[in-house]
Amino acid sequence: MVSFGLIHSMGSSLCLFLLLLSETCMASVQRHGKVEPGFEGSQMNWIDNDGHFLLSNNSDFAFGFEATNDVQLFLLVVIHLAAKKIIWTANRGSPVQNSDKFVFDDKGRVFLQKGNRTVWSPDTAGKAVSAIEMQDSGNLVLVGNEGQPIWQSFDHPTDTLLSYQNFKEGMKLESDLTNDNISYYLEIKSGNMILYAGYRTPQPYWSMKKENLKIVEKDGDPVSASIEGNSWRFYDRNKALLWQFVLSQNGDTNSTWAATLGSDGFISFTTLSDGGISQVQKQIPGDSCSSPGFCEAYYICSSNRCQCPSVLSSRPNCNTGIVSPCKDSTELVNAGDGFNYFAIEFISPSLPDTDLNGCKNSCLSNCSCLASFFKNSTGNCFLFDSVGGLQSTDGQGFAMYIKVSSSGGSDVNPGGDGGGGSKKHFPYVVIIAVSTVLVIIGLVYVGFRYSRRKKSPESPHDHTSEEDNFLESLSGMPIRFSYKDLQTATDNFSVKLGQGGFGSVYRGALPDGTQLAVKKLEGIGQGKKEFRAEVSIIGSIHHLHLVKLKGFCAEGSHRLLAYEFMANGSLDRWIFRKNREGFMLDWNTRFNIALGTAKGLSYLHEDCDAKIIHCDIKPENVLLDDNYHAKVSDFGLAKLMTREQSHVFTTLRGTRGYLAPEWITNYAISEKSDVYSYGMVLLEIIGGRKNYDPSEISEKSHFPTYAFKMMEEGKLRDLLDSRLEVDEEDERVSTAIKVAMWCIQEDMHQRPSMMKVVQMLEGLCAVPQPPTTSQMGSRFYSGFFKSISEEGTSSGPSDCNSDAYLSAVRLSGPR
Ligand SMILES: *[C@@H]1O[C@H](CO)[C@@H](O)[C@H](O)[C@H]1NC(C)=O
Ligand SMILES: *[C@@H]1O[C@H](CO)[C@@H](O)[C@H](O)[C@H]1NC(C)=O
Ligand SMILES: *[C@@H]1O[C@H](CO)[C@@H](O)[C@H](O)[C@H]1NC(C)=O
Ligand SMILES: *[C@@H]1O[C@H](CO)[C@@H](O)[C@H](O)[C@H]1NC(C)=O
Ligand SMILES: *[C@@H]1O[C@H](CO)[C@@H](O)[C@H](O)[C@H]1NC(C)=O
Ligand SMILES: *[C@@H]1O[C@H](CO)[C@@H](O)[C@H](O)[C@H]1NC(C)=O
Repeated sequence: MVSFGLIHSMGSSLCLFLLLLSETCMASVQRHGKVEPGFEGSQMNWIDNDGHFLLSNNSDFAFGFEATNDVQLFLLVVIHLAAKKIIWTANRGSPVQNSDKFVFDDKGRVFLQKGNRTVWSPDTAGKAVSAIEMQDSGNLVLVGNEGQPIWQSFDHPTDTLLSYQNFKEGMKLESDLTNDNISYYLEIKSGNMILYAGYRTPQPYWSMKKENLKIVEKDGDPVSASIEGNSWRFYDRNKALLWQFVLSQNGDTNSTWAATLGSDGFISFTTLSDGGISQVQKQIPGDSCSSPGFCEAYYICSSNRCQCPSVLSSRPNCNTGIVSPCKDSTELVNAGDGFNYFAIEFISPSLPDTDLNGCKNSCLSNCSCLASFFKNSTGNCFLFDSVGGLQSTDGQGFAMYIKVSSSGGSDVNPGGDGGGGSKKHFPYVVIIAVSTVLVIIGLVYVGFRYSRRKKSPESPHDHTSEEDNFLESLSGMPIRFSYKDLQTATDNFSVKLGQGGFGSVYRGALPDGTQLAVKKLEGIGQGKKEFRAEVSIIGSIHHLHLVKLKGFCAEGSHRLLAYEFMANGSLDRWIFRKNREGFMLDWNTRFNIALGTAKGLSYLHEDCDAKIIHCDIKPENVLLDDNYHAKVSDFGLAKLMTREQSHVFTTLRGTRGYLAPEWITNYAISEKSDVYSYGMVLLEIIGGRKNYDPSEISEKSHFPTYAFKMMEEGKLRDLLDSRLEVDEEDERVSTAIKVAMWCIQEDMHQRPSMMKVVQMLEGLCAVPQPPTTSQMGSRFYSGFFKSISEEGTSSGPSDCNSDAYLSAVRLSGPR
């Protein structure tokens, strides 16, 4: 009896034990490919597998629990294992504990619990799920009874898109909410893809339609987009390719891309591989100041720096002091002119066709309005109920009025109707005292400067002080230096970096350590005003592949330009055989330099407000930074010369063979003349030699002629610098040679645009066999030098600076 009872109780506890064991075992085994109904468990059950319970067949991706910043709380995610990158999250904003269960029950229901509450459940429209699959692509798919997908994570992205994930109209990326900052969203709608900030009234700040870097294949309204190979492709309803946004020039088209909308409002593109996650390869928007989140609210963004506008700088944290706009007592203050706001170009005005007072009044009378922007030239008035980072502009900007709390401690109207007790008054007293002192100091300083200015001998022609102040007041615009500043910066012009067509270049450094290349312009006899106008245009052009103008000086007869310093100097130092023994740029670097230069030029030709023709493309004007990235320099300078001074330029052109035939034939100069010069430079990059080298055997002394001959004989690769080691398979070699030969066609209509050159180099469109013009080439060549030597310093009507030419293409003039 006793023994029976014992056995019985042992038996039941054994059963219980086995049951427990089997349940634990069932849950703790990590699955591959898919799981079936009757599956459940919490983070604890898979603690040996880092909480991941389902792996893709290729083991790249896992589905499971991941800890948040708070290690006690977990999210149910799809993660790329090697890159440790979360691709998708089920329970965003509702993390669970390590004992909370993920359940896939026998009835085919899928959900995640927190305590006794369901925090996530996919919408399967009541259909039973027969399997959950973790696919090799990173897509989590719930499969129905007939094997059809009834729900997939690719259709419900969180903040990340992967290669081949179709992003369609109706879907949305939302940046991760850290603290209670605003979110940013990405959507496709109305034939466009837009990024917007999730303020009370959403504010767009980027759209693919306005993105300059995309390639338009066909007109139409895109409804879907996916990353395929190395580009983001946009399709219309019929799956026809409309736009492409290239993510990388790199040939490896098997990369798995991840596009993530960050909590700073930028989409960053990285690649995921067994080796982990790559650096950010591309970012949208490309310009940091184009996102409202780069700078904090109300700060002015320029050249990646954030600055509090002067009207708010007396307030703590650059804050308007408004807590509750419709309850606080507020006033509208003028923040100045020359502002821009990222949302303006994407929305229509709140009040079109009004005047400044109308604009101010409509903001004043609307308690949710926090700022207004008004442009007199258009009569457009924009009102905003939330304000992100601001932008400064180069004169075409908006007048901005900001609402501030009138009891917020400004020196404009301190106190107001604060109405607090005497304890509350104490800070106001201090603030009033401090600001009064500040105002007095300010007045004394202004008075002092004014009196110095009056005494300064340099003032008679200084009738443009308004313009000066404007340029000075906005960082990001070229800084106006005094001659003395630059004399000090360059140690009295002691280190000469080079001598160009427009003058000598000296090395310098500002007191803050910023390195400069200071160009002393010679023979530029332009009036100060015209000079400044040109400088402000050159200074407003920002591109990765264009050398940035940091500042200028126009004082008496001095005209100087201060550029960013480029550590590796100009391209001619690096590609020609005789220049540097030992070190040589490899093919990859050379190709990237060629591509970068083409992009810089393409930007000047197509994307600037005013088309800019460089007129002097040659290796000396392609500069290299520390990483051998190319930047084009000296753009916009041709315009600075008056016609009489152009002999500087003309003498220069005789020295090298980069100028297009139309310079000699008096045919109109156009951007295609730059294309010709670019082609000549490209040939030199490929050949590692000068195009005209009398020391070569006669057949080879004129490289372009030789190149056409080699092309006819089908020996393109013989043109490549023999010292380079290049993979036989590398298509870029013949692409680059053919592109160069298209560029140097004598007939300018045959030459491609720079944008086309970029596309061909990037392998985005095929390069047809170039026509042979070798005969013409050599004929032209001999005639070319003859005409230079005969005509000497003449400058035909086709020069960049001739009046007829200027009116025709409006070289670097305002739009
Ligand atoms: C669920 O949890 C809440 C509190 O967490 C509790 O009040 C409630 O009784 C629970 N319900 C059930 C059915 O256990
Ligand atoms: C995983 O591999 C198995 C066996 O090759 C295959 O049957 C299954 O379809 C794969 N699962 C997924 C999600 O790719
Ligand atoms: C979010 O807001 C907090 C303060 O609320 C701030 O400290 C933090 O820098 C912000 N984060 C981002 C990404 O803007
Ligand atoms: C890309 O993948 C295909 C098929 O897996 C392979 O044949 C090819 O070599 C890969 N290309 C590169 C550049 O890795
Ligand atoms: C603003 O525009 C109006 C009409 O277009 C013009 O009369 C007025 O002078 C302008 N004001 C300023 C300050 O430019
Ligand atoms: C008040 O301003 C907000 C934000 O600019 C705007 O959305 C709203 O329509 C305005 N209300 C009225 C009554 O004008």
